[in-house]
Amino acid sequence: MDRTSVSFGGFVVESVLGTGGTSTVYLAHDADHRVALKVFSSPRPLPPALDHPHILGAYRHGETEDGTLWLAMPYVAGGDADGELRAGRMPPARAAHIISGVAEALDHAHSQGVVHGDVKPSNFLLAERVLLADFGVPPFVRDGLVLTSAAYAAPEMLRGDIVDGRADVYSLGGSLFRLLTGKPPFFDAGSKDAVVQAHLRHPPPQASRLAPWLPDAIDLVITAAMAKVPADRYQSAGELAAAAAEALHSARGHDGRW
Ligand SMILES: Nc1ncnc2c1ncn2[C@@H]1O[C@H](COP(=O)(O)OP(=O)(O)O)[C@@H](O)[C@H]1O
Ligand SMILES: [Mg+2]
Repeated sequence: MDRTSVSFGGFVVESVLGTGGTSTVYLAHDADHRVALKVFSSPRPLPPALDHPHILGAYRHGETEDGTLWLAMPYVAGGDADGELRAGRMPPARAAHIISGVAEALDHAHSQGVVHGDVKPSNFLLAERVLLADFGVPPFVRDGLVLTSAAYAAPEMLRGDIVDGRADVYSLGGSLFRLLTGKPPFFDAGSKDAVVQAHLRHPPPQASRLAPWLPDAIDLVITAAMAKVPADRYQSAGELAAAAAEALHSARGHDGRW
């Protein structure tokens, strides 16, 4: 279907903002709003409604005639943390600040019994404050096959086990690694299967090896965040963010160009 010729509940598509594993995001508008219109490529449940200063809400949602779910969200003009990183605008202090806002969002979600399930820098949208987007556990694993991105996924999620908020703590640790080093965890493993195996079995990555200007203390933080067993991790996202901020305090001088 040519999405640009379809009107989604009165929203008219202007252009494509980006494409993820299971959706395409369009810039769209109605009479009142300019929105980011997310259209999913496979059936999925509606994400939970959460109200928090660091969580991107939705204006409206609906389904097209063929049953495709769409969500109209506020359009965030500042891009996302992954794009800012690739543009060379992610000094450690900014990374710590972003992680801290996302952690507040996650701790709120977890207190409501909601796991995000897809914590990664491209879901950290940047307005005056950071907004965590894309709640709802993604179909990482079906019939033993890892279907979508595994780059930041916790071992228990990759195994298809039941997960809790500590899976998000793991992925937040991996996101921190990416924002500080420019690389996702286990980037050198090779194939996607090898990345999955590394999440399951290899020790957490050492940020200071890739980015020698980082204090060694950050390695301990990422190691604790990305422990294989949830009970060995920080038990909340906020604890991780506080430890990261403290460890990075001495790294303020680096301008973060990759
Ligand atoms: N509300 C929004 N406002 C502006 N850009 C957005 C919004 N939501 C998503 N995007 C952008 O659309 C692109 C695709 O998003 P998505 O389909 O969620 O894939 P992913 O998160 O895997 O990159 C991303 O680059 C993201 O920055
Ligand atoms: Mg996304």
